[in-house]
Amino acid sequence: MKPVGPIPPAYAGQAVLSVAGRSAKAWAEQGTPLYLYDLGAITRRIGDLRASIPEQIGLHYAVKANPYEPLVAAVAPLVDGLDVASAGELSLALRHKPAEAISFAGPGKRDFELEAAIGAGATLNLESEGEAERALAVGARLGITPKLAVRVNPDFELRGSGMRMGGRASPFGIDAARVPALVKRLIAAGADWRGFHIFAGSQSLDTAAIIETQAATVALARRLSEEAGVMPPLVNLGGGFGIPYFAGDTPVDLPAVGAALGQAVAAFPGAQFAIELGRCLVGEAGIYLTRVIDRKESQGETFLVVDGGLHQHLAATGNFGMVVRRNYPVAVAHRMGDAPEETVSVVGPLCTPLDRLADKVALPRAEVGDVIAIFASGAYGASASPAAFLGHAPVREVLAAIPHT
Ligand SMILES: Cc1ncc(COP(=O)(O)O)c(C=O)c1O
Repeated sequence: MKPVGPIPPAYAGQAVLSVAGRSAKAWAEQGTPLYLYDLGAITRRIGDLRASIPEQIGLHYAVKANPYEPLVAAVAPLVDGLDVASAGELSLALRHKPAEAISFAGPGKRDFELEAAIGAGATLNLESEGEAERALAVGARLGITPKLAVRVNPDFELRGSGMRMGGRASPFGIDAARVPALVKRLIAAGADWRGFHIFAGSQSLDTAAIIETQAATVALARRLSEEAGVMPPLVNLGGGFGIPYFAGDTPVDLPAVGAALGQAVAAFPGAQFAIELGRCLVGEAGIYLTRVIDRKESQGETFLVVDGGLHQHLAATGNFGMVVRRNYPVAVAHRMGDAPEETVSVVGPLCTPLDRLADKVALPRAEVGDVIAIFASGAYGASASPAAFLGHAPVREVLAAIPHT
């Protein structure tokens, strides 16, 4: 038997899984596999974060975490900005937030993407000097002053993060030492310089490391501003607040991070700040529901073959940037409160041994037709999976909200 990750507290105590007042079984009746995004849980998480971080610090949602449009539409009014990473995400964001509240990061932006952002009035987070020159040229061609921020490749990384994006040679951002010269160039060229974007890593559960990185990020922004001789309109401090996925993972202490953030920003008086979060806002609010199609035994092991898999939930199968495969939190949806009765592996319908949603986990017995729930599935799920692989139908997604009476 192998361990599983912790079921998020909002669902852990339930005997029968229920989301927004309806049982998982009822949600699944309209068809599986299915991603359910619990709007109440998202709203509570954003409320908790707002209560933890100082009021003057903006909260941005990184659309890449979950671009499902009804979810983006629901999150947009609850946050101060949307961060996007492609022309597609930009047009989605523009349907739900004014351009002034949208920033576009990511290496390799093509000219049509620069045009779309500059034309709309969104901020481009520049990833290289070459991109800066192309953005200035696009602005000149369109006759529009481009809003340009500089993404900094910091000379440190967020310790403990699943995805490190600083402290090394990087396709992301411009090495800190070259940033002041670029800021001066942008201002001299007549651009509307919007400040700094400094993103040092993602999926860190290490509260002390996040606090340390926040302080280092503020100090770096201050130093670069002094060297450039100009105050940044906004410093986007990144985020990287992780969520528990695996056995032994514990949540980030948000009140501690928020309190430390207040102290950190005090070291750069007069500047405006934002943080940019994806999975922390939506990850634990998502549940992937998949139905048991077959139970089979092989050489003494039991397999639950389900209708969902790697093509829809790459991350839960351990194939989205994980070095070692570990089990996401998993349960038999209508038997959450029951003691485990057997050790099973939950596998999908794809003909690859990689298609394993849960490996040798202890669960109450599930029969053909029962619904299996994979928790912590609200971020980097459907949109981060190879949906076309083997030609199965696209996954259903639903924003689960308690209906107004
Ligand atoms: C620039 C940038 N912003 C935001 C995020 C979102 O990270 P997370 O979902 O871990 O908060 C990422 C993730 O890689 C990123 O690269």
